[in-house]
Amino acid sequence: MVDEHTDPVATRRRRRVLITGAGGQLGRALAETFADDDLVALSHKEWDVTSPGPAGLRSDPFDLVLHAAAWTDVDGAESDAQGAAAVNVGGTANVAALGAPLVAFSTDYVFDGRKGEPYVESDGPNPLSAYGRTKLHGEAAAGPDAWVVRSSWLFGPTGHNFVRTMLRLAEERDEVAVVDDQRGSPTYVGHLAAATRELVDRALPRGVWHLAAGGDCTWADFAEAIFEEASLDCRVRRITTEELGRPAPRPPAAVLRSERPGAPPLPHWSEGLRDCLAALSLTADGDPK
Ligand SMILES: NC(=O)c1ccc[n+]([C@@H]2O[C@H](COP(=O)([O-])OP(=O)(O)OC[C@H]3O[C@@H](n4cnc5c(N)ncnc54)[C@H](OP(=O)(O)O)[C@@H]3O)[C@@H](O)[C@H]2O)c1
Repeated sequence: MVDEHTDPVATRRRRRVLITGAGGQLGRALAETFADDDLVALSHKEWDVTSPGPAGLRSDPFDLVLHAAAWTDVDGAESDAQGAAAVNVGGTANVAALGAPLVAFSTDYVFDGRKGEPYVESDGPNPLSAYGRTKLHGEAAAGPDAWVVRSSWLFGPTGHNFVRTMLRLAEERDEVAVVDDQRGSPTYVGHLAAATRELVDRALPRGVWHLAAGGDCTWADFAEAIFEEASLDCRVRRITTEELGRPAPRPPAAVLRSERPGAPPLPHWSEGLRDCLAALSLTADGDPK
């Protein structure tokens, strides 16, 4: 039973909640999900986390910080690992230095994807890319008292993500080449935000949590599902990672599952896709709502 007087994070009163990276796809979903709290939602422009932040932030304490700011350009991190580390490691340290209960978001790319079955929290990380390494070091920078939420293949109605890219490409051509040898769980940001809220509201223990959509697929499977669900006439040509030739190596199969008691369950990725298309005002038959 949560004691309302000793656990300010989980109580039902309006908490003072800070969101970093509030302009990003997850930041926006978190702002919607935590809308009944007293929110301070700061975009990149309002707080570049590579600096300690405005003095006002440090003088007026928060009940909860949701740290969604990050360098997320996986390929760009290969040629500017220091830049990526400044945000993902140094930035996370600056956010943790606020001293408030913290949720820091991390990624399936901390794993090498060679396990052959889903990864649970006790599995040892082994990132293949500069991005993955900065995120792993960022987990440490969040500190032992943080909730470190690892998720995967995020998509939502705003920002840069695979769903929006596929919808755009389908307008321009009748075939797209999509990688078919990477497997993961595409996770809808609205579902991740709701699961994050559950983690905090239920005062579940701190530490690493794997929160990703149910089910798994390849990028090519996901692209086909997007076209089908949005009734778009576009074919998927299945290619290999090698054919695509991106600078950063990706884990071939990094499906995240939780082994922790009481882990908030997330809906299947196909449900996330439907919710995302609905949020984009695309019905199943492709007509605007
Ligand atoms: N996207 C995925 O597939 C995925 C998968 C697993 C985990 N994650 C993790 O989930 C979290 C949220 O990712 P997301 O998908 O929402 O990414 P996103 O849409 O790229 O959002 C990240 C936000 O952080 C901002 N940002 C970048 N550098 C910053 C800085 N120095 N100071 C303050 N803000 C800064 C970006 O602003 P600008 O756009 O102006 O630079 C952007 O608004 C991240 O921790 C990410 O590593 C993402």
